[in-house]
Amino acid sequence: MATVLVTGGTGYIGSHTVVELQGEGHEVVVIDNLSNSEREVLEGIASITGKMPFFEEVDLRNRKATYGVFEKYPRIEAIIHFAAFKAVGESVEKPLTYYENNLLSLIHLLEAMNRYGVHHFLFSSSCTVYGEPDRLPVTEDAPVKKASSPYGNTKQISEEILRDAMVPSPQLRVISLRYFNPIGAHPSAMIGELPLGIPNNLVPFITQTAIGIRDQLNVFGDDYNTPDGTAIRDYINVVDLAWAHVTAIDRLLQGKQRSPYEVFNLGTGKGLSVFEIIHAFEKATGVKVRYRVTGRREGDVEQVWADTGYANRELGWKAERGIGETLLSAWNWEKHLQSKKTGR
Ligand code: UD1
Repeated sequence: MATVLVTGGTGYIGSHTVVELQGEGHEVVVIDNLSNSEREVLEGIASITGKMPFFEEVDLRNRKATYGVFEKYPRIEAIIHFAAFKAVGESVEKPLTYYENNLLSLIHLLEAMNRYGVHHFLFSSSCTVYGEPDRLPVTEDAPVKKASSPYGNTKQISEEILRDAMVPSPQLRVISLRYFNPIGAHPSAMIGELPLGIPNNLVPFITQTAIGIRDQLNVFGDDYNTPDGTAIRDYINVVDLAWAHVTAIDRLLQGKQRSPYEVFNLGTGKGLSVFEIIHAFEKATGVKVRYRVTGRREGDVEQVWADTGYANRELGWKAERGIGETLLSAWNWEKHLQSKKTGR
């Protein structure tokens, strides 16, 4: 078992991954600057796993503070790097903030790896790098398309930085995981997604509408060239996604890679439309979702879903949880948040 540094470990995907890592006996050091998450998430993790991860409130833009974590925990063997800003619209408003945060954090971690002799790195990338793909399902060798937002561009540039950084550091071993659309929450409802303000993403908007925080969901366009006219995505359960990180860490640490830099798609292999998600939510929970159709959202692609064959074969991993179960977990999490707020 290894000591794994998880940056962004109090965030949505990070926290679920810490749970799975600890469940497998790994020791976890979490770094987070709490810019988009709460310290309390650590208690959620501890209540599920019976173990509190080590926690350092550090901003990775601060090189010295970043090095300090490696000084304090010299046994770190691998890093999973989630910490990044991820709101597409906000990145258009504040491009420099996005480039500074997402790229500088990565660079400081890579510098620290050189300095402290850490060689294994797992990077949170996104299917956004494929843009509107020419062929579906999307395989890992599909071309990277021009990014439609600074956020998307930070993911593309980060992948390039990783490739370049490996040239003078032949010991470095890297896996980039390209996530499709992670949704849902831990079945215990002790951790989940915590959107600040109005959610950008579909499923938190649905659960907030269903519970009455939002009046109605805006469906962004029903005039796409898809069977029901709404856009199609590959929605993957966050616990399935978290588990993929455990398999990828094992692959890195056990030296099982086919090449020093690898890329895997993480999705279910199945595309669902916005209407299909709404109906699946209503079926799984018995709760109606008020919605209206509005215009398309700028920057949205029509349809994208993953070819997961490579991840399935090489990682020995497969998304297992169905859409009903997954949407129900998101709903249970929303209800948990509500009961915490109202004390009932
Ligand atoms: C978005 C980002 C993606 C990023 C991910 C995580 C874009 C183009 N892509 O994925 O790069 O990695 O978030 O933050 O923004 N929808 C509605 N009404 C809503 C919200 C969404 O109809 O209120 C629709 C969208 O148009 C889309 C689908 O639901 O068709 C999923 O949207 P969302 O959850 O925001 O994810 P993506 O846009 O796929």
